[in-house]
Amino acid sequence: MKLKGQHLLSVKDISLDLIDELFIVAESMRPYAGRQKVTRVLEGAVLGNMFFEPSTRTRVSFGSAFNLLGGEVRETTGLSNSALAKGESLYDTAQVLSGYSDIIAMRHPKAGSVKEFSLGSRVPVINGGDGPNEHPTQALLDLFTIKNELARQNKSIQNLSLTLLGDLKHGRTVHSLCQLLALYRNLKIQLISPAELAMPTKYVDLLVNAGHQVEVGTTLEQGLPQANIIYQTRIQEERFSSQQEANLYRGYFRLNKQIYAQHCQPDAVIMHPLPRDSRNEANELDNDLNAMPGLAIFRQTDNGILVRMALFACILGVEDIIQNYEQTV
Ligand code: CP
Repeated sequence: MKLKGQHLLSVKDISLDLIDELFIVAESMRPYAGRQKVTRVLEGAVLGNMFFEPSTRTRVSFGSAFNLLGGEVRETTGLSNSALAKGESLYDTAQVLSGYSDIIAMRHPKAGSVKEFSLGSRVPVINGGDGPNEHPTQALLDLFTIKNELARQNKSIQNLSLTLLGDLKHGRTVHSLCQLLALYRNLKIQLISPAELAMPTKYVDLLVNAGHQVEVGTTLEQGLPQANIIYQTRIQEERFSSQQEANLYRGYFRLNKQIYAQHCQPDAVIMHPLPRDSRNEANELDNDLNAMPGLAIFRQTDNGILVRMALFACILGVEDIIQNYEQTV
């Protein structure tokens, strides 16, 4: 596959053919992720899991995905715990860590930093999120989830009516997702945010130029009734100049059972890249939705394992030989 030996730094590196191939491999990972089968295909390989910005699911699912393929994981968490805090350059850090690893997953608060790091790396680098810029593996697992959720309703991606909701200015997951969706044609996409937190024009233009029907709005009523997938996002407090500024937008677009019943299609699917801000003043996705079948947020996080296993297998070129390394359960 084209991914073999390559960095994954941006969704710009991804084509429709590659998505189709990758998702077939991701589906083939289900028995390994579900422990019905065991493979040791990456035995002896090391993942350098370098997270210089907070993370729960991306960091742990990268590590778990690598372990499920039989590999070992070495981690760094937090800028202050690394030699970057002593002034070491990303280039030098990459030269060093790539001598210890077969592949590196990295997150960093600065846009463009993972690309800069990759220039010094002797092994493939996967972008686990670089500041407000991109989060390509999240976009892939989001698209995988969208396709799976539509398939559960006997629909395809061509039936998609997607509403992206919340902080569309700072949310790197929605920036990457828009770029992936621009590979398709004739979808319905609603972009709903406070006016000050609107989707950057370059992504709106990308969607419009792809031939999608794009609506931009500022109220829930403009975004919910027509959507079969609703993708809620958090106010990205860490990207604002102050907490006070972020507070202006907290709780702006709450979703709860009552709002869902009032405005949404009865089988509308709710996604969120997580974490959801469950403090009272924000509460963008209320716990009273937890038991609803349309809430796909934990199917989404489970899918992160499948997609990241598939990425490791394809980048390290073992996707066709996994079965040769199966062990009995
Ligand atoms: N979705 C996501 O990137 O979550 P984490 O910040 O917990 O990795």
